[in-house]
Amino acid sequence: MQHLEGMLREDALKGKTIIVTGGGTGLGKSMGKYFLKLGANLVITSRKLDVLQKTADDLMQETGGKVLAVQCDVRNYAEVEKMLEATVSTFGGVDVLLNNAAGNFVSPTERLSARAFDTIIDIVLRGSYNCTLALGKYWIKQKQTNKTVLNIVTTYAWTGSAFVVPSACAKAGVLAMTRSLAVEWAKYGIRMNAIAPGPFPTKGAWDRLVPEPFREKFDLAKKVPLRRQGEHQELCNLAGYLVSDYSAYVNGEVITIDGGEWLQGAGEFNFFNELGSEHWDAIEMMVRGAKSE
Ligand code: HXC
Ligand code: NAP
Repeated sequence: MQHLEGMLREDALKGKTIIVTGGGTGLGKSMGKYFLKLGANLVITSRKLDVLQKTADDLMQETGGKVLAVQCDVRNYAEVEKMLEATVSTFGGVDVLLNNAAGNFVSPTERLSARAFDTIIDIVLRGSYNCTLALGKYWIKQKQTNKTVLNIVTTYAWTGSAFVVPSACAKAGVLAMTRSLAVEWAKYGIRMNAIAPGPFPTKGAWDRLVPEPFREKFDLAKKVPLRRQGEHQELCNLAGYLVSDYSAYVNGEVITIDGGEWLQGAGEFNFFNELGSEHWDAIEMMVRGAKSE
């Protein structure tokens, strides 16, 4: 199946250094691995150094590429600046920032403490703007061009979603930042784009959003018109393209990769999808027979 294969040519990211926040696990790890296969140097950051170091060792062994693991809580601007310094001193510069780190869990909003709300907003929105600001200031001061920031959001950044309200608020903010800076920083040679993934199973997300006993009842694949979840390689292909020079004219865009999921929830009459042709025979007869008053 071609959608399970790498799409870009093998040297598509050669010479680029890419920072992936939250790069020790889940989608960040998958995207990082693909960037390495395409010739990039990789920096992965998160709070847990042991997890990062293990991922770095595994990825270096698997791909033969170079990976730097840096502990960095993206909520803390001073730590972000240190992470940038470590990147520059190891690789001599940086070309791409992938804002992927996130925190999230399902909960009725009235059960949240103010601190719980802050925690999610701080990881997702403050974390993304801290990293973007630090990298942007650095690139602009150094007069470096051909740089890019890619933000991972979700489709409820624009629809909103019950039970993940702090995450929805934060991702909406990240999307606003993407579109705003795409215009403001284009003159410095910095592009800003976002990806809005639908369901791509990871342990981090599934344990917090669809706990085991509910997985069958709330099967996310059933909400997707294509009737399946995403494969990590499909997301990696899109991310690889957006951080590569092949996408040099794509700026300020959010690309949805969700098998049609969010639109299925949006269209007024989409529920008719459940009907078979025998129902349509009956409905057509009734509708044709309808008379005006
Ligand atoms: C209510 C909760 C809670 C829960 C934590 N809190 N879990 N409140 N229900 N289930 C409250 C705590 O009581 C505390 O408030 C506050 O939140 C902070 O919790 P801590 O455990 O102290 O925070 P911390 O150690 O920083 O951990 C952050 C975390 C954790 C977000 C709570 O889950 C985490 O580390 N997550 C990182 C990875 C992650 O979330 N991955 C999923 C991304 S998936 P009080 O007031 O008691 O002090 C994603 C997908 C989107 O974004 C789209 C899918 C389709
Ligand atoms: P994940 O494996 O839990 O990844 C989240 C990462 O963020 C972890 O590596 C975590 O590492 C890191 N992180 C959390 N708080 C941090 C902090 N304060 N500072 C630095 N790093 C921090 O979940 P995932 O599913 O791969 O999610 C990756 C991204 O995809 C997120 O932006 C998520 O919103 C988005 N997304 C996922 C899906 C999906 O279906 N999986 C769908 C739409 C969007 P530490 O705990 O070590 O800090």
